[in-house]
Amino acid sequence: MGKKLLINNEHNPFKKTISVDGDKSISIRTLLLGSQAYGKSSIKNILMSEDIINSINCLKKLGIKISINKKDCFIYGRGVNGFIFKKNIILDAGNSGTFARLILGLLIKSPYYIKLIGDKSLSQRDFERVVTPLQKIGAQFKINNKKTLPLQIIGSEFINPINYFENKGSAQCKSTVMLAALLSPGHTVIKAKKSRDHTENIFKYLGIPIKIKKNDNYDEIKIKGKKFFKSFKYHVPSDPSSCAFFVVLTLLSKDCKLRIKNVNVNQSRIGYIDILNKMGAKIKIVNVKKKYGEKQADILVKSQPKLKKINCPASLNSSLIDEFLIIFLAAAKANGVSSFTNLAELNKKESPRLKLGSKLLNQLGIKTKLTNDSIKIFGKPDVILKKSINIKEYNKDHRIFMTSVIAAYTFGGKWKIDDVDSYKSSFPSFLNILKGLGYKFKFV
Ligand code: S3P
Repeated sequence: MGKKLLINNEHNPFKKTISVDGDKSISIRTLLLGSQAYGKSSIKNILMSEDIINSINCLKKLGIKISINKKDCFIYGRGVNGFIFKKNIILDAGNSGTFARLILGLLIKSPYYIKLIGDKSLSQRDFERVVTPLQKIGAQFKINNKKTLPLQIIGSEFINPINYFENKGSAQCKSTVMLAALLSPGHTVIKAKKSRDHTENIFKYLGIPIKIKKNDNYDEIKIKGKKFFKSFKYHVPSDPSSCAFFVVLTLLSKDCKLRIKNVNVNQSRIGYIDILNKMGAKIKIVNVKKKYGEKQADILVKSQPKLKKINCPASLNSSLIDEFLIIFLAAAKANGVSSFTNLAELNKKESPRLKLGSKLLNQLGIKTKLTNDSIKIFGKPDVILKKSINIKEYNKDHRIFMTSVIAAYTFGGKWKIDDVDSYKSSFPSFLNILKGLGYKFKFV
């Protein structure tokens, strides 16, 4: 077991400007597309977290040269389907569901079996969702009955473009098929429930032939396979999901004000800002610019001691899928009973987050009513804890770790949180930024 974090402190108000680390989804996508471009691509401000380091190591095993200088990455792509396939390659995706699922889309022509493995948390997650469409395209798999890692994939010379219906609202499933479409002959057609659209944006930015028809709930995406596209330059904006922890910290603390710079504000990612504003926060998005096909802006937030309950519309779920835990914490301090529905997917993340999020709130003395796919949270605006709280056995889920830290600083009490290294899979600067805002903690 890793080190534990101890938190037991009062905080002074802050008024500061911060930057959070680069966007995880975009970092992984630019690496994958850099590996398929022809020549040297440069990706600045890439997220240097464990998920990305594992992704880089896997791409290197597939023959792609990559060099890193602090947060700048140079990747020497060998063209579409340019991986060097060898016998007995084992790719270890660590904790990264995004990399593990998306890379499979680029392996559909491998002449040898490639083994894909991950850590304990990733090895419990479902891969049927990407195996099924890739089998239709022509890849073959060796996988257990539970459809979890480890798996082996072998490609085929005879692959077919498919018509694919993505109905979970999963950007990972959609993107896996989009990457496979790049290697496929002819046109791949995807009808996908709304989810983050970074892969679409990068395809457009790189000039990969893509047509998108937007409907209310679904997008229709048509992609033409391409043999060649040029290397590129990219600057990764800051991650709105990492930013969310500091937004909620500021809202729930007294007399605080924060500016978070150059955050990706793609509408498919910032549903949590809409929800918090509906709860009475006055979060502003300023200096909006479009760069590299994505919108980025500064986020301004100040304390809001009086939050109201929320009935979260399920149509927004995919735009805050990674922020539910921290939103649950805000709901725990809001006046009234908040309700969140249609959330079965949340139990399929790095941990069963709906279940463990509810357990965390119960530890704080907050009543919840939990089902398999919904939660009601009975907010207590004035709660201040004096007791000791231990957070353990949470599958080292980075977002549970960071939500627990924010809870410790906003609810009070004496906290001991296991497995300190958890946050490093997505947000390595998390504790340093807290330190810069004047927060104290100890390791044991
Ligand atoms: C991601 C998509 C989401 C999200 C994950 C990152 C992506 O997963 O939870 O953290 O980069 O495509 P799903 O596609 O499974 O919803």
